[in-house]
Amino acid sequence: MSIFKKRQNPTTMDTHYFENIAFTCTNNIGILSIRRPNKMNALDAQTLKELADILIHIEEDRDCWGLIITGMGEKAFAAGADISEFYGKSQKEGQEIAQWGQKHVFDKIENFQKPVIAAINGYALGGGLELALACHLRIASKNAEMGFPEVSLGLIPGYGGTQRLPALVGKGKAMEMILTGERISAEDAYQWGLINEVTGINDLVHKTKEKLNRMFLHSRTALSTAIKTIHASTLPNNKGFQIEIENFGKLFSTSEFEEGVAAFLEKRKPRS
Ligand code: COA
Repeated sequence: MSIFKKRQNPTTMDTHYFENIAFTCTNNIGILSIRRPNKMNALDAQTLKELADILIHIEEDRDCWGLIITGMGEKAFAAGADISEFYGKSQKEGQEIAQWGQKHVFDKIENFQKPVIAAINGYALGGGLELALACHLRIASKNAEMGFPEVSLGLIPGYGGTQRLPALVGKGKAMEMILTGERISAEDAYQWGLINEVTGINDLVHKTKEKLNRMFLHSRTALSTAIKTIHASTLPNNKGFQIEIENFGKLFSTSEFEEGVAAFLEKRKPRS
């Protein structure tokens, strides 16, 4: 049985509480929050396990069309992997930590079939920033600070940060962030192309929902195909172009395509 069924809170209809995360889905928007505010929402093994389990559930939930990931409170989105769990681990264990997390959480989010937006409400450091980088879009409140402090621990990012950061900000800025370990403000992150939008602290979730709702005006099959095809842009030998051709063609066989084109030609809104 999944933890989702086991730990469902009987007193609340819509919000499902686990030990370290909560999930709610209203009006087709799922909100997944990390709830370890006393530990700056640091991602310990339990939290990562819960995230991995709930992601499987959300992907199958037909009422949930898109997902917002955020952190509880106003201080932190997530201040990284839980450093206390690293102490005394061997090389092999270090690799296993990175491999398990990448496969079950970070890559899972990147390859999600529904749009996922990180609503960054405070510190997004190390693994917390990697969580945001794995999302399809990032929106941050003005107070947010982002960085990769791993070098100060004698480490490097291990949940995809060295790979996903340069794709967004370029190799030079990625080198600067990772090698200095210094944090940058939401405004700088926006200027660098690391995040898509900066909002006021109180507007963050509202603005993030608005962004998803603007996506939901369109064919959900087109959205998931677009996500997949954009990811193909990093494949070697320009393979992405061929994948785009195939996926473009596949969409011609969908009812959403038929309706979308008919609606345009008949000068009306598409019927869902
Ligand atoms: N892992 C484990 N615990 C963490 C943590 C992390 N990544 N980040 C914060 N915490 C814990 C602190 O140890 C502290 O716990 P305590 O109250 O039991 O002592 C609690 O969260 C609050 O953090 P604190 O440092 O007191 O808050 P602050 O406002 O002074 O500073 C940060 C906030 C985020 C700047 C600071 O906590 C920090 O630098 N965290 C580590 C970031 C990091 O290196 N991440 C990469 C991990 S690979």
